[in-house]
Amino acid sequence: MVRKQEEYIMTVKPVKVALIGSGNISYTYLNTLVNGGFHIVDVVGCSDLIPERSKARAELFGIRQMTNEEILNDPEIEIVLNTTQLWNHTAVTKMILEAGKNAYSEKAMGDTFEGAKSNYELAKSKGLFVGCAPDIYMGAAYQTGRKLIDDGAIGRPLIAHAMCCRGYNSHYAAGDPADPHAGSAGTTITHDMAGYYVNVLVSLLGPVKRASGYTKFYNERCYENPNHPRYKEPVSTEIGGLRRGDSIFLSALEFENGVFGSLTFNSESFFPEEPRVEIIGTEGILSLPDPNNFGGWGYDVYLKRVGNAKNGQNEVFRVPFTHGYGDTDPSIPPKSGKREPCHNSWRGLAVVDMAYALRRGRAPRSSADLALHTVEIIDAVERSMKDNQVHAIHSKPERPAPLTPGMFGMGEASIDNIF
Ligand SMILES: NC(=O)c1ccc[n+]([C@@H]2O[C@H](COP(=O)([O-])OP(=O)(O)OC[C@H]3O[C@@H](n4cnc5c(N)ncnc54)[C@H](O)[C@@H]3O)[C@@H](O)[C@H]2O)c1
Repeated sequence: MVRKQEEYIMTVKPVKVALIGSGNISYTYLNTLVNGGFHIVDVVGCSDLIPERSKARAELFGIRQMTNEEILNDPEIEIVLNTTQLWNHTAVTKMILEAGKNAYSEKAMGDTFEGAKSNYELAKSKGLFVGCAPDIYMGAAYQTGRKLIDDGAIGRPLIAHAMCCRGYNSHYAAGDPADPHAGSAGTTITHDMAGYYVNVLVSLLGPVKRASGYTKFYNERCYENPNHPRYKEPVSTEIGGLRRGDSIFLSALEFENGVFGSLTFNSESFFPEEPRVEIIGTEGILSLPDPNNFGGWGYDVYLKRVGNAKNGQNEVFRVPFTHGYGDTDPSIPPKSGKREPCHNSWRGLAVVDMAYALRRGRAPRSSADLALHTVEIIDAVERSMKDNQVHAIHSKPERPAPLTPGMFGMGEASIDNIF
């Protein structure tokens, strides 16, 4: 078996990959793709509008500093990662697809449904892949959760609860000239965080069929910082001439498989982060960790099952991971010597999967439909708030195929087997 896979690795041509947007999150992607031991990907280079940033990343990872044009005009490059800020995702992904390359974008696929849908159609018309982060559903915690559900550990799933509270203080944003779009519609907690929750829910339960709910920007506050130019004025509902993005969001979802779900976001409570994902079934409850983490280091999976009939007590288990790709030790500092968000994660696994998909002639797990699903659900809830209707969701992503159980670190043969 191992020999056969070694032969496969020797014969398969690695997929050349480049990255546009060499900011904070590019560190963890490049670390996975350059240092993760995935021979299927060959990272050529990275670009940024601010050349010092791409230079620093290129030097750190031993790849080429490139311009966007060099990346887009290089006929050898097959996948381009878009790790620019949210409000650039639509335009940069469009540029990648128009250059005839497969695109993988940071979340969300776009800051509007129309923008995301147009790239979905463009990719389809060109026969290209377009995928979107997050890929944490591929990590140890959520693959373990997936296996528990598929093995019947909670019986028949009935209800899914997903919630994220964050304290962005977004209402204080004064229209930073370096970040003129931050805080505007399409850039707040909904578009920033929904992908984490939607992707894991689709992996666990399948796609959402209908959505409705409530969503708004909470503006009953004044600017409280005496140094703010608008101190004591009410927080305005527009920012830099654009509509403020929503900060409170509560939705009701019906999944294709009959499960009812709720997805709640709130960025006004000043918690650093309060994430929840729970799947309630006929025979048990699965509590899953923050879908922003791959698993381990406090991000564990718990299963509550009805205990023995004699004492009637429930039993709660912390379930050991069945799969690899958990987070790595967060106390080990990034190689750059600077603070790098999510530096201990495996972000980029879906790019590896896309590379295998290209070579094996199959669909990638992080499909165009999965990418569009999040933005379509947010859009449906925003419309529901205005028209009091429940909206059908048209994107129907397949449940991404589960990964093979087994631990990372057993050589390329096991990695190839996993994907
Ligand atoms: N920072 C985090 O903690 C974090 C975590 C997970 C996901 N993300 C997501 O990753 C994405 C990027 O976030 P970030 O924090 O790395 O942002 P960032 O601002 O640090 O980096 C984005 C970079 O993209 C560059 N850029 C913008 N438009 C470009 C263009 N047309 N061509 C070339 N370069 C361009 C910018 O100059 C900037 O350096 C966002 O979608 C964000 O939601 C961020």
